[in-house]
Amino acid sequence: MKNFLAFGLLLLLFGCEFGSEKELAVANGLRIYQQHCMACHGEKGEGNGLLYPPLQKSDYMLQDSVRTLQHIVQGVSGSLVVNGVSYRGIMPSEPTLNDVELGYLMTYLYNSWGRVGGHFTPDWIARNKPIN
Ligand code: HEC
Repeated sequence: MKNFLAFGLLLLLFGCEFGSEKELAVANGLRIYQQHCMACHGEKGEGNGLLYPPLQKSDYMLQDSVRTLQHIVQGVSGSLVVNGVSYRGIMPSEPTLNDVELGYLMTYLYNSWGRVGGHFTPDWIARNKPIN
């Protein structure tokens, strides 16, 4: 009975642990988004006219999460199409964020504004990050 209780307690602890890891990532990701992305892409990822494309409900982002990570790390310019609208801007690269912070930011981006899009761990970032 004692063992059984201990096992139950362990399960409970681990259960919470896994649940909150993603929540923590989303909370930290929000801060990173506010500091590094919000000025251009808006408080809720709504974008800004034809200057800055939206991240909220962006079909472009949902097509390819590896490409999103590349754009964050290396920047992007030229032309791209988001939800049928063409943008020709310049997004600067973001070289200061480490893999843990990039994981938080990606997890925030893909779990905000109605999306439910997974948990991006530092391992995933390391495996998919462009080599500079
Ligand atoms: C100085 C303004 C600026 C900042 C800061 C900025 N972006 Fe961008 N972002 C742009 C522009 C402009 C484009 C479109 C580039 C083009 O036309 O090729 C873009 C494109 C994108 C795209 C692909 C298009 C889309 O809407 O899905 C993503 C994803 C993105 N940015 C995410 C981010 C994230 C995450 C951050 C914070 C780390 C960030 N951006 C910071 C200006 C910015």
